[in-house]
Amino acid sequence: MSEHLQIERDGGLLTLRMNRLDKKNALTRAMYAGMAAALDEADTDRSVRVVLLTGGESCFTSGNDVADFIQAPPSGLNSEVFQFMRALFDFSKPVVAAVAGPAVGIGTTLLLHCDLVYVARDAQLKMPFVSLGLCPEYGSSLILPQLLGHARAAELLLLGESFSGEQAAQWGIANQALDDGAAALAKARETALRFLQLAPSAVVDSKRLMRAPGREELRRVIEEEGALFGQRLRSPEAIEALTAFMQRRKADFSRFS
Ligand code: COA
Repeated sequence: MSEHLQIERDGGLLTLRMNRLDKKNALTRAMYAGMAAALDEADTDRSVRVVLLTGGESCFTSGNDVADFIQAPPSGLNSEVFQFMRALFDFSKPVVAAVAGPAVGIGTTLLLHCDLVYVARDAQLKMPFVSLGLCPEYGSSLILPQLLGHARAAELLLLGESFSGEQAAQWGIANQALDDGAAALAKARETALRFLQLAPSAVVDSKRLMRAPGREELRRVIEEEGALFGQRLRSPEAIEALTAFMQRRKADFSRFS
């Protein structure tokens, strides 16, 4: 189990807490594998009713660890990141997310697969895939144009514009924006606990019905995006962008045609 992932049980509530604050909770392969295993186990454990996903009161996650992207780019559906994506996508019980500070890349796209999302008003959400020489992932190229319209989705996915927790709530990516990270976490926990009072099979059946329309198309898109993302990670454009981040300089795409 990764030291950067805290897993806590409180009755029927399972809390997964990303805990690598010195790197803004950047996700390593071990963290993805730990979250995937915890979700798979919780799915079959009848005593778990709901999952709370958080990075604490100050930071959600800065997305995939960029050094990992360079040194060990994920390839194929067996990679740790895909195990995590599949585990969250197939998770049958409710997932509640508490978001504060940065939520970058998969830190934003994973929210599209959670059931209830509470954000700090000043959280900074961002999907800088194209800026990194990459492409959208985890179904975002399908879900966001449907949810927001093509024009706004293009600002977020092609230009990689950041947006606040307040905007995420207005646009329906989050349920509610709260004053700060502590309030978002408290509200998410309070909401998660409400599931402990509800009929568990009725919740699971209802979530399945809500997620069913377009589900196989979404699964296909996630796989197509993943294959392209894996190719793009090995492209000269992405290598330039990821290296530039590690060297704390601006990427220079001028030599690419
Ligand atoms: N992967 C690896 N390391 C990361 C990281 C990531 N995704 N995000 C942040 N870090 C590291 C930084 O390199 C820095 O490490 P150092 O202290 O050893 O130099 C540390 O975390 C703090 O990050 P810093 O950039 O100084 O914090 P900030 O508050 O100025 O900015 C972010 C926070 C999240 C906006 C910024 O770190 C960022 O843009 N990260 C990259 C996000 C990204 O592109 N993710 C991939 C998406 S596909």
